[in-house]
Amino acid sequence: MQVIRSIKEMQAFSESARQQGKTIVLVPTMGFLHEGHATLMREGRKKGDVLVISIFVNPAQFGPGEDYEQYPRDWESDVKIAESAGVDCIFTPDAGEMYPDGFQTTVSLSQVTGNLCGIYRPTHFQGVATVVAKLFNCTKPHRALFGEKDFQQLVVIRRMVKDLNFDIQVSGVPTVREPDGLAMSSRNLYLNTEQRAAAVSLSRALLEAQKMFKAGERNAGVLMEAARKIIEGEHGTTIDYIKICDVETLEDIQRIAQPVVMALAVRIGKARLIDNIVLNG
Ligand code: PAJ
Repeated sequence: MQVIRSIKEMQAFSESARQQGKTIVLVPTMGFLHEGHATLMREGRKKGDVLVISIFVNPAQFGPGEDYEQYPRDWESDVKIAESAGVDCIFTPDAGEMYPDGFQTTVSLSQVTGNLCGIYRPTHFQGVATVVAKLFNCTKPHRALFGEKDFQQLVVIRRMVKDLNFDIQVSGVPTVREPDGLAMSSRNLYLNTEQRAAAVSLSRALLEAQKMFKAGERNAGVLMEAARKIIEGEHGTTIDYIKICDVETLEDIQRIAQPVVMALAVRIGKARLIDNIVLNG
């Protein structure tokens, strides 16, 4: 497994693989890898000849007062996990090379970023879209994999790839969960024992809504209210939002007649956790 820090070197590596007729798969990450990331890598391993992951904690997607400085890092463990998932190359650029003095170009999307986390983190998706576009240009992949856990991010990337004609296949990978249902996340580390117990209410709330949906409930308000009760029943939870949206436009839906995503964001202690489930998909 190769570790590449320089952008030029990364581009040369990918160019040479392309010239040998190899297909390149990219899994972008911010490191502190867990089983969710490993699942993306294993999926990626099956989908091409050269598997590249990026590890870059992207300052541009953190807002003021968010956890950029505290974001967890563990290089040794990341290398082990990447190696055992069959990664060929870790691209881990310096922030200074990614965003040199004079940097001023951004990618922003006008509609799909206007709801859900976009309301609470107004500059987040511009930071994500910009860095992913840059990572695409650095690693030149044929295919890139993203987790459905970050559903809005996946919608944003798919839209950007379409709008800007990136010649890249985007694949979504289902959310990987702990045995009790909590979606795996690097930020779960911020939870103490009681908070960790309360965090299970996110997936419980989504499953309850799914159960009601399967039993015939189509009123989004009723499903959201049931979910809210479950989460508010746990001590120390603060709901940012619970919403039911069209899976492509992410516009709010009142009556469910198309594929929708029920998405939520909840703050517990220092952690802000997100989760979602697709209904009618
Ligand atoms: P990060 O949070 O490290 O996640 C990297 C990728 O792993 C994302 O596509 C995310 O959706 C996926 N992922 C995380 N937890 C998952 C889980 N429990 N199940 C399935 N997939 C999971 O998302 C980012 O980094 C950044 O925004 C990035 C795209 C790298 C741009 O900086």
